[in-house]
Amino acid sequence: MWVATLCFFLVASGVLSKPVDDEPTCGYDACPLSDPATLNVHVVPHSHDDVGWLKTFDQYYFQDVQNVISSVIVALKLNPERRFVQVETAFFKKWWDQQKDSVRQDVINLVNNGQFEIINGAWSMNDEAAVNYQYTIDQYTLGLRYLEDRLGKCSRPRVGWQIDPFGHSREQASISAQLGFDSLYFARLDYRDKINRLSKKSGDLLWRGSSSLGNAADIFTSVLYNHYSAPPGFCFDIVCDDDPIIDDPESPDYNYQNRVETFANFVREQASKYPTNNIIVVMGDDFRYQAALNSYINTDRLIAGFDLFPQTFQGKTIKVFYSTPSCYAKAVNDYAITNDYNLEIKTDDFFPYADGVGNLVVGYFTSRPASKRFVRDGNILLQTAKQLAAAVNVPYDNVEINSLKEAMGVLQHHDAITGTELIDVTHDYHRLLHKGISDTSDAVDPILSNLITGSGDNDLQFKSCLLANVSYCPETKSDQFTLVVYNPLSRVVSSPISVPVDTETWSIVDPEGQEVIYQVEPTVIDFSEIIPEAVSPFFLEFVATDLPPFGYKVYTFAKTESAKIKSVTVGNEDTSFEVDETTGLLTSVTMNGVTLDISQDFLYYTSGGGSQAYVFTPASNDPQTIASTVTTSVVEGDIYSAVVQEFSDWAHQTIKVYKHDSSHIEFDYIIGPLDINDGGKEVISRFTTSLNTEGAFYTDSNGRETLKRVRNYRPDYEYTDEQPVSGNYYPITSKLAIKDEDSGLEVAVLNDRSQGGSSIEDGQLELMVHRAISTSDAFGLDEQEYDHGIVIRGKHYLVVGPSSGNGEKSLAAIERDVVQRKFLQPWVFVTNQDVSDQLVNLQFSNLKTSLPDNVQLLTLEPWKDNTILLRLEHVLEKDDDPNLSVDVTVDLSDLFVAFTISELAETTLAGNIPIDEYEPLHWPGSTNDTPKVRRDVGADLQVTLSPMQIRTFLATVTYN
Ligand SMILES: *[C@@H]1O[C@H](CO)[C@@H](O)[C@H](O)[C@H]1NC(C)=O
Ligand SMILES: *[C@@H]1O[C@H](CO)[C@@H](O)[C@H](O)[C@H]1NC(C)=O
Ligand SMILES: [Zn+2]
Repeated sequence: MWVATLCFFLVASGVLSKPVDDEPTCGYDACPLSDPATLNVHVVPHSHDDVGWLKTFDQYYFQDVQNVISSVIVALKLNPERRFVQVETAFFKKWWDQQKDSVRQDVINLVNNGQFEIINGAWSMNDEAAVNYQYTIDQYTLGLRYLEDRLGKCSRPRVGWQIDPFGHSREQASISAQLGFDSLYFARLDYRDKINRLSKKSGDLLWRGSSSLGNAADIFTSVLYNHYSAPPGFCFDIVCDDDPIIDDPESPDYNYQNRVETFANFVREQASKYPTNNIIVVMGDDFRYQAALNSYINTDRLIAGFDLFPQTFQGKTIKVFYSTPSCYAKAVNDYAITNDYNLEIKTDDFFPYADGVGNLVVGYFTSRPASKRFVRDGNILLQTAKQLAAAVNVPYDNVEINSLKEAMGVLQHHDAITGTELIDVTHDYHRLLHKGISDTSDAVDPILSNLITGSGDNDLQFKSCLLANVSYCPETKSDQFTLVVYNPLSRVVSSPISVPVDTETWSIVDPEGQEVIYQVEPTVIDFSEIIPEAVSPFFLEFVATDLPPFGYKVYTFAKTESAKIKSVTVGNEDTSFEVDETTGLLTSVTMNGVTLDISQDFLYYTSGGGSQAYVFTPASNDPQTIASTVTTSVVEGDIYSAVVQEFSDWAHQTIKVYKHDSSHIEFDYIIGPLDINDGGKEVISRFTTSLNTEGAFYTDSNGRETLKRVRNYRPDYEYTDEQPVSGNYYPITSKLAIKDEDSGLEVAVLNDRSQGGSSIEDGQLELMVHRAISTSDAFGLDEQEYDHGIVIRGKHYLVVGPSSGNGEKSLAAIERDVVQRKFLQPWVFVTNQDVSDQLVNLQFSNLKTSLPDNVQLLTLEPWKDNTILLRLEHVLEKDDDPNLSVDVTVDLSDLFVAFTISELAETTLAGNIPIDEYEPLHWPGSTNDTPKVRRDVGADLQVTLSPMQIRTFLATVTYN
C-alpha cells in the first residue's frame, strides 16, 4: 500500500512522466547494438584539428575549427542516428566560451544521448616522444576538468585518441589506462609493423603499458586501417572532390548502387584483416566537417544503401551504422568475452616509426631544442605555482595560473613540442608560453612577497631570469639583489644555483645569517655575440643547501670589495674525471667506486636529402668530428671543478664536478649557430667506452619506465631496410643507458630536455643535441634568433658505476634521483629592490617532513572549495632497487603546514572519476596479480604505493 502511494506521488509530481529520452543514455548504453551474426561496420565521423601546425592555434580556430563544431551540432540535431567524436578541448573551450545558452544546452543534450561523444578530452592531442609524463597527466587533468564542469558525467571520455602522433610510447598506454580509458586508437606505426599486423589480424591488441603495474596499465588498442582518413572516394567534405552519392535513378549521374558496392569492397578488404566481426571505419581527416551537412547527408544515404542493396562478407550480412570508437571497443569486448578470445598482448612500444622505406620519423625527437627546453622551464614554474597556490588557498580558476596550464597544454601537441610546425607557428607557441609564464609569475609574486614579509602590505616584486642561460638578467646586474630559491620536490635537496653577475666579489647570506661560499667564473663564450642585451661577463655559482620540500630559502647578495671567502674543506673526493692533455677530450671518470675509461666528443651528421623537422636521414652514417684538437682550460673553485673545452667557435663545453654532489658529472654545452650551407648539420654528443653491451641499450618512456632496445632488431616484425643510424634512434626524455652484463657496469646519460639518441656501436651512447637543416620544403630547420642561426645551451649528466650501486642505492635509484632533481630543479625568483627590512620569513616549507626517496608528491593544486588535488607517485620500477622498489606508505594526516586533511577521496588519474564510479571493461587474457585499483586508504590517511604506482586523491582540507 505504501509503495503504491509513493509511486502515485511520483507520477503525480511529474517525475516518472518525463519522456525517457530526457534521461542521459550516454556511455555504452547509448551504443548501437552490434549483431553477432553480421559484420558490423562502425562508421565514425571525426575531424582532426591540430592546435597549431601550418597555421597558429588562433588561425585554425577562426578559419576552420569554429565552423566544424558549429555545423556538426546543427547536423546532429537533424538526425538522432548521427554521431560525432570531439577531441581537442583547447578548441572546444574557445568555441564554448562564444556560445549562447541555447546552443550550450543543445551540446549537453547531444552529449547526454551519446551523439556528440567526447573522446581523449585532453587539452591537445599530445606528442608521445618528447613529452614527460607530468606534462601529459597535467594536460589531461586540465581538459577533463573543463569538460566535467560544463558537460557533466556523460562527457567523461573512455577513449584515448592519439591518431596523429609519430610513434607511440608505452607510458601513453599506461597513462590512458590509468585515466580510466577502455581503449586507445592510433594510425601511425612503422609500415612494416602495420603490414605484419594486418596479415596476422593483430591490429586489435591488448597493450600492457607497464612492467611494474600489471594489468592496471593494460588497455585495448586498435590500429586504424586507412590512416585516419575516410575510405578513398568517400570524402564528402566541401574540401574534397569526391562525387556525392546520387540516388535519383532518373539522374544521368546516378551512382547509388555502384557507390555502395565500392564501399562494401573496402569494408570486405578491411574485415579480412581484423579479428572480430566488427570493424571501425573513420569518416574524416584534418579539419573536416566544416560544412558538416555535406558529409552527413551523403553518409546517411550510404548507410541506407546497405539496406537497399544488401552486401555480404563471408556469408554474413554487412551492417553499417554510425558509431563511435568507444562503441567499437565495447563490441570487440563483447565478442572477446562471448568467444573467450584472447587478443595479442604487447609489452613494448611503437618506436621508432618509419612511414616508408628509409623514412625514419626520428628527427623530431631533437628538432627545435630551444622549444623543448622552454617547455621544461614552463613545467617547473607551473608546479611551483600550483604548490604555492595550494599552500595559501588560491582558487582553482585563477586566471593567471590557468594561462600557463593552457599554454603548457597546447605546447604538448604533436606539432608543438615536437618542433614539426612552421616557423611562424613556433613563434606563436613561444608567445603563448611566454605569456603563460609571465601571467603565472604575476600570480606567484604576491604569494611569495606575502609569505616572505608576513604581510599583505608590501611592495616586494619578484622576477624570473628566463635568459640566465645566456648570462642575461637585469636584476642581478645590480650591486645588491635577493634570490628566493623554491624547491618543487617533496624532499629536501641541495642544488647548485647559477646567476649572471657583472663583478667577481660578493657577500651572500643564507636564511641562517651565514655567509655562503660561491665561485665566480667568466662565461664560456661572449653571449653579447648572440643576444643584443647587456649580458653579464661572469656567472656566479653557489649551492642552495638543504632546500625544504615544497618550500623556499631566501639568499641576499651584496657586492663587496674584499676577496671572496674561501672554503676550508675541499668537497668531493668520490667523483672525478680526466681529460687528455693532447686531444683535450675526456678519457676517464671515477665515481661510485669505479674508474672507467670513457671519451666524449661532439660530431655531426651532414643532413641527407630527406632530413627535415620530422625525419632524420644522414647523408652518411659516419658522423664527422668537429675538431681534431680541443683547447681546454681548468677551473678550480669552492663550488665545482671543471674543464672548459672549445671544440670550435660554435661548440663549447664545460665538464663539471660539484663538490657537494658526487652523484653525477655535468656536461654543459653551447652549440651553434650551425653553418647549413652544406645542407644541414645534425650534431651529436657521443660517449665511448669499451663496455661489452651486445647491441643492447636502455631508454626511458616519457621520463618514467625503462625499455630495453636492441640494435637492428624489432620485437614485432622483421627488420628489413636497415638504417644503421636513424633506424636505431629512440626518443630520450630523461635517460639513455648501456650495461655490461659481465662486469656489471652501467653508464647512463641523463638530459635536460628531450632528444633523440641511440647506441650505434657497442659501448657507445649518442644524443642528438642540435639540428639545423635547409630544405626546399616548408619543414626545414633554419630557425633564426637575432639574425643568426639558433644557439643551444644544454646539459647532460653522466652517471657511471656498478648496476648494483654504491652500497646505499642501486645505480637505477641514483639515476632516478638525479633525473628528478634536474627535471624539477629549483626555480629562482629575484628582486633587486632594497628590501632588507621587509625580509621576515626567510624560509618556508609546506611539508612538515621530507617524503621518502622513493616517493614524490607529483601534484598539489587547488581543486574546489576546501578541496585539493593531490597525486603521489612511487618513483622506482619494480626491479630498480632491492631496498627502495618496495611498497611505501605515506602518512598524510599530519604532513602539511598550511592545511590539515580531513578526508581523502581517491579518483582515476585525472581527478575526474571517483574510484567507486570507475568500471573498466575486462578483457580475457588481461589477468595479473596486481589489482586494477587499490582502495586501501582508510580514515587514518595512510596511503600505500607500490613501485611505479601513481595515486590521485581529492583531499578535503581545513586551512590552519
Ligand atoms: C635560452 O633560453 C631562452 C628561453 O627559454 C631560449 O629562447 C634561448 O634559445 C636559450 N638560449 C640558448 C643559447 O640556449
Ligand atoms: C640494501 O640495504 C642493505 C642493508 O642496508 C645494504 O647492505 C645493501 O647494499 C642495499 N642494497 C643496495 C642496492 O644498495
Ligand atoms: Zn595532427
